[in-house]
Amino acid sequence: MGRGKRADLIVHEGLPFNAEPPGEVLATGEITALDTFYCRNHGAFPHIPPQQWRVRVEGMVDKPLTLTYEQLTNGFSAHSVVATLVCAGNRRAELLKVRPIPGKDPWAHGAISTAEWRGARLADILDAAGVCHEDGLHVAFNAPDVAPEASPVQAYGGSIPLSKAMSSEVLLAWQMNSEPLPRVHGGPVRVVVPGYIGARSVKWVNTITVQPGPSENYFQALDYRILPAESDPDTAAPGEGISLSSLPLNCDILVPGDGAEIPAGPLTIHGWALAGDGRGIGRVDVSVDGGHTWRQADLQPATSRWSWRLWSLTVEAQSGPMTLTARAWDDTGATQPESPAALWNPRGYANNAWAQVEVTVLPCSPDPTNHRPAEKPTSELRPPS
Ligand code: MTE
Repeated sequence: MGRGKRADLIVHEGLPFNAEPPGEVLATGEITALDTFYCRNHGAFPHIPPQQWRVRVEGMVDKPLTLTYEQLTNGFSAHSVVATLVCAGNRRAELLKVRPIPGKDPWAHGAISTAEWRGARLADILDAAGVCHEDGLHVAFNAPDVAPEASPVQAYGGSIPLSKAMSSEVLLAWQMNSEPLPRVHGGPVRVVVPGYIGARSVKWVNTITVQPGPSENYFQALDYRILPAESDPDTAAPGEGISLSSLPLNCDILVPGDGAEIPAGPLTIHGWALAGDGRGIGRVDVSVDGGHTWRQADLQPATSRWSWRLWSLTVEAQSGPMTLTARAWDDTGATQPESPAALWNPRGYANNAWAQVEVTVLPCSPDPTNHRPAEKPTSELRPPS
């Protein structure tokens, strides 16, 4: 269908297109391939040829301006940032086991991916427009895609504080993994806000407004908020609940998958960890006995402070049911909450509980030649490379 996505994505909705890759393909490397990167949309995605794209910068700026694709890509210096994008609804499936969440997709482990983004710094564009530097301002983004789920129906938008917008990692990106930004990921130009929930990285951005308060767009004022557990999301007023912005410390197990049947013997567990607000990951602990005892996972180096760190640990799997648990610590000594039950919220956002998967370890079949258990090489359990 021209989206350039691999066939094994788990598709939650065809229109708007919402799909996540299986965990084991995400675990293959720090950078997620373009055909694998998750897709989160609220409407049909627009078709905007680069020569027709424009962005208007307005509001509390001295020199409102309109930039073409040519002016953006040639008139500002280009910068690259490796950053993980994660949807606030990632790991909602675990919250759904606590209590139902009507009308929301059951994202499992794959509403997260990492790319090398290249574009102009939003700060440079705001400076060119003569941005007002008062404390407490916000920068709102608008896009042309219309979201039927919004009430009232409206185009997608969101905002971030001006202080974040002026940070060097925030880009107006036109490249992803050295390719022109694909249409499905917001091409020709999107906002990339590393360290914030994916919802603020507005795709196909066409208006940037500097204003006194957060955006009044449905996806800022009503959705992407942590409502109190007893609140009814259908009657919640704009501004109710806690607006989501910077990401919480989190980790997950990507391999083996929940419910997998695996042979007894060495088992390599793979996952990711990401600290909030650009902090570092201090450690990832893994338990195979439901959290009674822990071992430290091996952490891969991070390319950037905005990128996830993949980790792995090889354990000995004994036959029978096995619970695998992981928790991350950041470099300030903070760790994750234990249970999704403590985090359940009516829209199912920001689940950063300990990661947990249940697997069944099958006894080894007897080897007829020497009567010793047949060993499954660990490599067969590694994600495909
Ligand atoms: N921007 C627009 N214009 N429309 C959208 O529906 N979805 C947001 C964000 N930007 C969205 C958007 C959400 S919720 C997420 S998680 C990310 O885009 C997903 O980006 P991706 O589809 O490139 O992975």
